[in-house]
Amino acid sequence: MNITVVGTGYVGLVTGAALADFGLNVSCVDSDVRKIETLSSGRVPFYETGLEELVNRNLRNRRLIFSTDLEAAVRASLAVFIAVATPDLPDGTPDLSQVDSVATALAECLDDYKVIVTKSTVPVGTARRIQGLLTGKQRRPVEFDVVSNPEFLREGSAVEDFMRPNRVVIGADSENAAAIVKDIYRPLFLNETPFVITSPETAELIKYACNAFLATKISFINEMANLCEKVGADVHHVARAMGLDKRIGPKFLHPGPGFGGSCFPKDLVALARTGRQLEAPQRLAEAVIEINRRQKERVFSRIERELGGLKGKKIGVLGLAFKPNTDDIREAPAIDICRKLLEAGALIQAYDPAAMPNSRKVLSGEEVVFCPDAYAAAGGMEALWIATEWNEFRNINLARIKSLMQAPVLFDSRNVFDPARVRALGFRYFGTGRPGSTPVRSPA
Ligand SMILES: NC(=O)c1ccc[n+]([C@@H]2O[C@H](COP(=O)([O-])OP(=O)(O)OC[C@H]3O[C@@H](n4cnc5c(N)ncnc54)[C@H](O)[C@@H]3O)[C@@H](O)[C@H]2O)c1
Repeated sequence: MNITVVGTGYVGLVTGAALADFGLNVSCVDSDVRKIETLSSGRVPFYETGLEELVNRNLRNRRLIFSTDLEAAVRASLAVFIAVATPDLPDGTPDLSQVDSVATALAECLDDYKVIVTKSTVPVGTARRIQGLLTGKQRRPVEFDVVSNPEFLREGSAVEDFMRPNRVVIGADSENAAAIVKDIYRPLFLNETPFVITSPETAELIKYACNAFLATKISFINEMANLCEKVGADVHHVARAMGLDKRIGPKFLHPGPGFGGSCFPKDLVALARTGRQLEAPQRLAEAVIEINRRQKERVFSRIERELGGLKGKKIGVLGLAFKPNTDDIREAPAIDICRKLLEAGALIQAYDPAAMPNSRKVLSGEEVVFCPDAYAAAGGMEALWIATEWNEFRNINLARIKSLMQAPVLFDSRNVFDPARVRALGFRYFGTGRPGSTPVRSPA
């Protein structure tokens, strides 16, 4: 079967390369000419474990091609996946202009029956809206179906997640279209991956429900961590005991400086907005947005308080990506908080294993220096802040770090280190939700 995937970002490129690996002939189309040139030469323009190898394997066996020619790709394909970005506008509405422009272009090149699959995260009702848009703009009436097939991969383990998903969701009105999309995922079906076949509206809502629930788990444990600090409890033990309860599960119970990334923040805002518009308020989602905003503020305030102000203070920052194993800095807490630290007059030396090229585009000026490694970032600093828990930070030599710093102060937002060990080395240590980080208070 021939497939087109429109958009070669984190989702589109993984989808295209993985479907080619499943044995399908895939054309990946993007409007960015340079990106297509880079990909055609076998280079992946962003950091994602295992992706370059997957792309090259399928370029070599000629099941994967990259192109800017949407019409030629679509004419040769039975299914067209839309995997373009859906960022939020300043008022929180999802910006569907990329999706709409692809839909309009598709209307002009439909020549015979196609299945149009929305892989981008889009608000409920978008599949039906695309249906109307395509019908209205077609040159001549040609049959087609629109199917919602939301993507659940995580950056950092995107290839693995696509190849071994917990489930595949297919939202379709037409049984024929659902069967075609199911057939595309046949290798997973044979692997006993559960399939949820439902309506387009339900599929679209499932994606928001999942992201909102995961974000809620993070915010829950962050609030618990804040309380742990007040009462002298250890949030790691709380999270572990909670996670051992099979009804709760251990994932997404790691406290930190708040969640970020290109999905959770915008998807929560979109869900809350849909709820308000349709008079089915999503109060939990609204609360999570606010809790997450405050969590970032809390990290900033603690650094400011413990350093006795920020003007002229020298702070080393380890980790800039919104999470480890990615170069993505969209809505990264590290970037937001660095901006605030810089605004307050701090001087920053930062290091991230993958996200420095992207960070350089958004954090600039003499007050921020990008360093080649963690030790260089710590050198001469009055405090070190662990903002993202890359594995390589777990093994840094803290004694050496201390010897390089002007003052041994460690803000460990991700609880990478054992507080007792770090304090024994002579650091002032501030973890998240761990005993000794703030004076204990009693509610009585
Ligand atoms: N990144 C994730 O972890 C993730 C996970 C699940 C779902 N999603 C959703 O998937 C969608 C894509 O996210 P992403 O992170 O891959 O986006 P991205 O910004 O990395 O990639 C989007 C790509 O689309 C291309 N594009 C834009 N307009 C185009 C057009 N008219 N024709 C052809 N190409 C065009 C861009 O050049 C870019 O390469 C979003 O809706 C997102 O919410 C993302």
